[in-house]
Amino acid sequence: MVDSRSPESLPEGLADYSAWRARDYFETYYSEVVLPDEQAVLAYQLEVMRRAEGRYGRALEYGCGPTLHRAIATSAYAFRIDMADWLADNLVFVREWLQTDREESDWSRFTRYILACEGEPDADRPRIARREAQTRKCVRGLYVSDARWHDPLGPERRAFYDLIVSGFCLDAVSSDRGVWRACMQNVLTMLAPGGTVVMHALHDCTAYKVGERMFPGAGVTVDTMAESLLENGMSRASIDVQIIPCPTNAVYGYSGILTASARKIAAP
Ligand SMILES: C[S@@+](CC[C@H](N)C(=O)[O-])C[C@H]1O[C@@H](n2cnc3c(N)ncnc32)[C@H](O)[C@@H]1O
Repeated sequence: MVDSRSPESLPEGLADYSAWRARDYFETYYSEVVLPDEQAVLAYQLEVMRRAEGRYGRALEYGCGPTLHRAIATSAYAFRIDMADWLADNLVFVREWLQTDREESDWSRFTRYILACEGEPDADRPRIARREAQTRKCVRGLYVSDARWHDPLGPERRAFYDLIVSGFCLDAVSSDRGVWRACMQNVLTMLAPGGTVVMHALHDCTAYKVGERMFPGAGVTVDTMAESLLENGMSRASIDVQIIPCPTNAVYGYSGILTASARKIAAP
């Protein structure tokens, strides 16, 4: 399929990530409630991880932004989590939460929701604190990384991770779908044979809102996501791609999200 769009046809007024503010993003999407679309993707991630035969050895959250909820979810299913993002500002935000439990970045409502999905609907504050403490122990590396690099975490991390979780990152790098395809390839080389990927993307979105700015979207669809997973060595039978409608988010530039999972073909 030929993609007719090019960087020159970017929508007017699109910001690049030099204009990104971690706090604006946190305030826009994560400071008040667990939005229904976020509930759906967290539940999806938990369900995929719950079906694994055992705990994952090495997990990577790629493109974490200033968020902790996917790591909090992962920490009960993996022995070690690394987190990566292009912007140091985001990683500073993450590190502050990992080092203290300061109120400015409170993830406890997400932790409560995660525990409810796992069958603990009445988790109290000490239980929430225990899960968050588990996350703080489980997260090892925080890395600045560019998904456009051939080896986003260096050649030694090729085929390294048993689980990669990536939420709304690779499709947000550029409006050019060719860039998204290259980022998928680069990031998925870090998945070990037999490893699992859980990936979320804004559905068919060319720009999404953070604060007063619009950032790029690659316009990913169910078919392009499934094709890319297949092209990058995932087993056809394992590929699952779903659309979760969220019409009330049209004001942010998208009215559906994609959630996907797959397993890389195991080595013979
Ligand atoms: C929409 S945010 C997603 C953040 C978080 N994963 C979440 O689910 O809310 C997009 C993230 O992609 C990161 N990003 C943008 N360009 C990138 C690149 N070239 N390589 C790696 N990450 C990038 C941004 O810094 C930002 O944190």
